[in-house]
Amino acid sequence: MTIAPENRPLLTVHTHARGKRSPVTCRLKCNDACLHPAPNESANEYFKDVVSSVLSRRAMLGTLAVAAGAVVIGAQGVTDAPSAEAATLPEGRFPGGGHGKGLSFGAIDPQPVDVDALVVPEGYTWDPIIRWGDPILPGGRTFDPNNQSPEQQAKQFGYNCDYLDILPIRPGEKHRGTRGILVSNLEYTNPEIMFPPTDKYWDVAADGSRTKNAYSRAIERAAHGMAVVEVRRRGTGKPWDYQRISVLNRRIHLDTEFVLDGPAAGSDLLKTVADPTGKRVFGTMNNCAGGTTPWGTVLSGEENFNGYFVAAGANPTADARYGIGSSTSYGWEADEPRFAQSEGYENEANRFGWIVELDPYDPQAKPVKHTAMGRFKHEGANVTLSAKGHAVAYMGDDQAFDYVYKFVSKERVAKGESRWARTHNKTLLSEGDLFVAKFTGDSPAAQIDGSGAVPADGAFDGTGEWLPLVKDGRSKVPGMSVEEVLVYTRLAADKVGATKMDRPEDVEISPVTGRIYVACTNNSGRTPGNATEGATEANPRTHKVVGGATVNGNRDGHVVEIIPSGDQTSTRFTWNLLLVAGDPAVEGTYFAGYPKDRVSPISCPDNLAFDAEGNLWISTDGQPSSSGIAKCDGLFKVPVAGRERGHVQQFLSVPAGAETCGPLVDSRDGMVYVNVQHPGENGSFEAPDSFFPDYVAAGVRPEAGDFRGPRPTVVQVYRDRH
Ligand code: FEO
Ligand code: CA
Ligand code: CA
Ligand code: CA
Repeated sequence: MTIAPENRPLLTVHTHARGKRSPVTCRLKCNDACLHPAPNESANEYFKDVVSSVLSRRAMLGTLAVAAGAVVIGAQGVTDAPSAEAATLPEGRFPGGGHGKGLSFGAIDPQPVDVDALVVPEGYTWDPIIRWGDPILPGGRTFDPNNQSPEQQAKQFGYNCDYLDILPIRPGEKHRGTRGILVSNLEYTNPEIMFPPTDKYWDVAADGSRTKNAYSRAIERAAHGMAVVEVRRRGTGKPWDYQRISVLNRRIHLDTEFVLDGPAAGSDLLKTVADPTGKRVFGTMNNCAGGTTPWGTVLSGEENFNGYFVAAGANPTADARYGIGSSTSYGWEADEPRFAQSEGYENEANRFGWIVELDPYDPQAKPVKHTAMGRFKHEGANVTLSAKGHAVAYMGDDQAFDYVYKFVSKERVAKGESRWARTHNKTLLSEGDLFVAKFTGDSPAAQIDGSGAVPADGAFDGTGEWLPLVKDGRSKVPGMSVEEVLVYTRLAADKVGATKMDRPEDVEISPVTGRIYVACTNNSGRTPGNATEGATEANPRTHKVVGGATVNGNRDGHVVEIIPSGDQTSTRFTWNLLLVAGDPAVEGTYFAGYPKDRVSPISCPDNLAFDAEGNLWISTDGQPSSSGIAKCDGLFKVPVAGRERGHVQQFLSVPAGAETCGPLVDSRDGMVYVNVQHPGENGSFEAPDSFFPDYVAAGVRPEAGDFRGPRPTVVQVYRDRH
């Protein structure tokens, strides 16, 4: 299916003013967040100002050794049996479970940014499962990009797939068989690629510039949200086909009804003239990453929701902190008063920015927005169970200098798949305690110099604390009610002294050890002497030197490892940086001590996943600068324990312009799945710069009218057995 790189058309690559995403991604996906000042202007303490001698080195090592052996998590919860493997590992300062086994492959080479191919290791092949525009509901017609309509789009797979899972066909089954339920988020839209350059879709000005019209904006709203699709295959390890018709198939979009639940539901802060109850919302948007719960529902993060609303002006402090401005690039405010937040709709934006829970096994069940989990730019949420069966969710707020959160349910999980148990478990995220993370480094501030050089004690590491925002149903934030804490969670977290992080994205829990991993994707604003904050031990890089030139900011990101001090409900933890990402040939990168000449370059970690063996898999968004040379994004395997800890190996590379999302690794089946998001993002409908995944013959441009432009696609990678 792939085309040799030498036969690809050459692609135009633009450079961004500050970050490494393309300007198109920045504008459409995050409303040019990195071009604006970081909205967190709170005066939380700097790391380097924190007294670093809280724990002596000896005490620190003792704590870690205990933590490493104390907590072992299985699918059914936590036991206190020590991990023999963790206890006996001789090497490494942060040994944990997992051993680097699992899927075997030879790491691929990083691919130059003009390679319009999905590249997989030798011995593997790939196929699309479903693409933007593929019909999934009755009445959905075969994709016709020249005649797209809002009605058709609502019956088709939407645009820019992000979170991905394939669930067993029945809840509670441990393995994927020959039938499954594919669930995918559909984050945002690329109108220049989606719509032909005709007046059916665009208003054209005298100077030739064009603006989306109401028709294309309605298609966009139908292309957002989520999709649920039945998939079938002939056996494990074999590729899936999606089912065009199934009672399970479902599209969630801007017209889908949601229930708002939890402590803030019904609050005056959530009411509009269309919903005087404050408990019923139409739509979800910018659904980025997510997580599948132990009880078989899917969580989805409403991320850059701010970019869809015009500020109402009623709460300028909150508008500024959440980045809601005076105009949008979507322009939907021309279509519905709620996006303009005009009179009667002043609270509409408060009804977005939540964690959404969807039950793919019950097509009739309304999806729910959980106010108990706080409102911010939710990347996603991942849930594990505490020793006593409480649901514990970890969440990132993806913005430069924003925070990492944790939710602990009040109630405990019910075992089994009875109707009663499933109904009960779907209420677990409706009530509980909400915390925000504070990370304290243990090295002297002078040793955290912004270069990424590891301090004298050998690690970026320290202790941490989950600071309560809501506990036992009460606000722990002076001057704010529970409803205010949950609706304006960023403002609440500012007040308690949370630690500013470098864009925390996915936060994933190891199924083997219970350790928690935070992908901090990058922060171009964390520069030397920056007024908001400079280098801290948890975010230690403010610059790098490439080819003799200094590049400011944390351009390549890092991965934090959190070790709970006790079970998952503990409010104390220790932490260290597993990776300080980048080109290993560049100073200031760190791969858990693994030899740098044997790791793949990796930059901008975004989505995380674990395989059954406890290896971490990282997909990237903005993968770039090996010695200043940009590369395509990809998927990487990283063992986190034993001799292989830190051995980053690239598994695949996505085509020109794309970001790698939703990794799902089923090492038992020998299969890997990714969502290829925004392929060819810098091109246009009439001049595509990617032909993924429906490539014409090598090097041949399609005829006019024969759309072979890029389509965001769910991809399966499997062993090539012929
Ligand atoms: Fe939608 Fe934070 O990535
Ligand atoms: Ca240290
Ligand atoms: Ca992401
Ligand atoms: Ca994940």
